[in-house]
Amino acid sequence: MRVLGIETSCDETGVAIYDSEQRLLGHILYSQAELHAEFGGVVPELASRDHIRKLLPLIKEVMTQSQTQTVDAIAYTAGPGLIGALMVGAAVAKSLAMTWNIPALGVHHMEGHLLAPMLEESPPEFPFVALLVSGGHTQLIEVAGIGRYRLLGESLDDAAGEAFDKAAKMLGIGYPGGPRIEEYAKRGRAERFIFPRPMVNRPGLDFSFSGLKTFTRNTIADCDEAGILDDQARADIALAFETAVAETLTIKCRRALEQTGHQTLVIAGGVSANQHLRCALQQMIDKHSDRKLYYPRKEFCTDNGAMIAYTGCQRLMAGQREGFEIICQPRWSMESLPPL
Ligand code: KG4
Ligand code: ZN
Repeated sequence: MRVLGIETSCDETGVAIYDSEQRLLGHILYSQAELHAEFGGVVPELASRDHIRKLLPLIKEVMTQSQTQTVDAIAYTAGPGLIGALMVGAAVAKSLAMTWNIPALGVHHMEGHLLAPMLEESPPEFPFVALLVSGGHTQLIEVAGIGRYRLLGESLDDAAGEAFDKAAKMLGIGYPGGPRIEEYAKRGRAERFIFPRPMVNRPGLDFSFSGLKTFTRNTIADCDEAGILDDQARADIALAFETAVAETLTIKCRRALEQTGHQTLVIAGGVSANQHLRCALQQMIDKHSDRKLYYPRKEFCTDNGAMIAYTGCQRLMAGQREGFEIICQPRWSMESLPPL
């Protein structure tokens, strides 16, 4: 089965062609980052309008690129995400499906992230614990198979990616925040600032990043007042912040593995591109010989069409179908998804 994947949940237009036999045949990503940069965050209305402009030309391009004349089905992101942005992908998917007389299926964006490591050469095997860290979600999930998810813990306030974005904004180092913090942190000195590791002393697997955000804001204000908020101070703060997030996530992941008895950890979502986080998790995993860590290649950590094409393909091959009505779910629990 050959599937066209469409991702338009936020500020990236992603398209891909996935074939169940030949695997990923092509993918293209268009990022709107530049469009939103001057506003310091995503402007939903601008995002939807840009998806309208870009989506059809990108679909044509990816089909040419992968020498695909016809597809057997279309998978599109139906949620969670920005409603206007989701509507563009859903409307285009359903219109093409009607014209080509093929099925179109709405895919859960976070399930797409969760399954993105399956696109790699040596994919993880079920069951495993997954840490999903994106701009909107921070979740620990026990994964028994596709659609067999149990939420172990999640953020009570900001998502990890959101915390990165806000910290970068406070530091005045640009948007999107995650990659900018990572870049600055590389020049940071580890000993200068020590930030708190939120909620690690409390039992359970939930997260909270609002205290860390306040601590970051106060540290920046103190440096500013003392007249020492230069580029080096920004780099030092970025490193202290990144270290605190990476360590907090690592402690909770270790706890989730111990609690469930699983040996495999999968990380996915935009923040899983962070090298500091990957190293901290790898160190934790390497302490036990039977434990293994999996993550997607960097370009498939952040939003992309390939993960949607792959996820849709699995569900379509299992016979899942929906009608031609346009369905979008800006809020949508992964636990409500049907198991395969
Ligand atoms: O998964 P994603 O592309 O979109 C959502 O589904 O939200 O994640 C975007 C988030 C943003 O908050 C961005 O700052 C963060 O992932 N991010 C990173 C890195 N790359 C992207 N955070 C830390 N380090 C990175 N290298
Ligand atoms: Zn995402």
